[in-house]
Amino acid sequence: MTPDSKSGAPRGPSDRVVPVSLGDRSYDIVIGAGLLSIAGALMTPHLPIPKVFIVTDETVAALHLSTLTESLSEAGVAHTVITVAPGESTKSFATLETVLDALLEGGLERKSTVVALGGGVVGDLAGFAAAIAQRGVRFIQIPTTLLSQVDSSVGGKTAVNAKAGKNLIGAFHQPSLVLADTDVLDSLPRRELLAGYAEVVKYGALGDASFFEWLERNGPALLDGDASLRAEAVARSCEAKARIVARDERESGVRALLNLGHTFGHALESRCEYDGRLLHGEGVAIGMAMAFDLSVRLGLCAGQDGERLKAHLRAVGLPVSPSDIPDTDFSAEDLIRRMGSDKKVSAGKLTFILAKGLGRAFITQDVDPENLRASVSAALAA
Ligand code: GLY
Repeated sequence: MTPDSKSGAPRGPSDRVVPVSLGDRSYDIVIGAGLLSIAGALMTPHLPIPKVFIVTDETVAALHLSTLTESLSEAGVAHTVITVAPGESTKSFATLETVLDALLEGGLERKSTVVALGGGVVGDLAGFAAAIAQRGVRFIQIPTTLLSQVDSSVGGKTAVNAKAGKNLIGAFHQPSLVLADTDVLDSLPRRELLAGYAEVVKYGALGDASFFEWLERNGPALLDGDASLRAEAVARSCEAKARIVARDERESGVRALLNLGHTFGHALESRCEYDGRLLHGEGVAIGMAMAFDLSVRLGLCAGQDGERLKAHLRAVGLPVSPSDIPDTDFSAEDLIRRMGSDKKVSAGKLTFILAKGLGRAFITQDVDPENLRASVSAALAA
């Protein structure tokens, strides 16, 4: 067990614990195989009263809910289940209201705990409900996708989407515990696994060249199902995210590095109308390639680093160019306009995460519009 870890419950011998150090809001991310079946025992030390409200979606419920509820029953924890429809449209005000009503009608008390069992949509929605119900109750994340295990379940960002854009209504509300069961990744469709893998590559590309090299060597086997490589990749990603979140919980500085690829990616996602043509992680993969291309154009980064990033993304089967997205035409003007409606705009200026090389990302608002237009046009022509 890590010295400053807060989880007191029993765990398997191969489990990893990554602490997120945030003073009295510190918590552990426990990573390992088979955690869902002992989740009740792992959660018990974090529950002020033995009563939880599980928020999940229909797809995840069919696969994993009974394992979780059995472990809760074994641990003597009462549970109420709230099931929502799968998909991005669930991250709405309307569903939030339904979840809040179900929590309150189900007897939620200040000492109850909300458990998010699912991917990023469920985690963000349930986390936001927990942040505002009774002015804030505890919550525990049990992420069931690679993307949510390495990114969205960690760091306390919770939100629903607004008409004006994604994630525009939300709160920072840290979980009390994150349980990342790497066995559940076996049930993910390959495309979704790959989309999550783009966020894993992001940690190497933004701050850790040796992790990027490790992914070049191990990424294919990890994606093909090697359980210990998966656990290692999840743990190293969570360690990277935990380090950044501990320094800048509310994104007033360094946390913005985690948005590498996201300004371009969100513009592409918005153009694709979230209709399944482009998954978030796929947008991040293309966005990272575009951020490195822009960095190379600005003379900040060696061309070979951008090529190496794209070669690895391509090798595992991720898209690297807008032309890899089926049935969609893009124009540079439209994408740049969409980038301007991203929430990373400050005082009217777009914030970019660019790179001086693999593992050397930095934050800037200083990008000449002509270079941006030329870089986006070149990416569209690729
Ligand atoms: N997904 C980026 C962040 O948590 O800051």
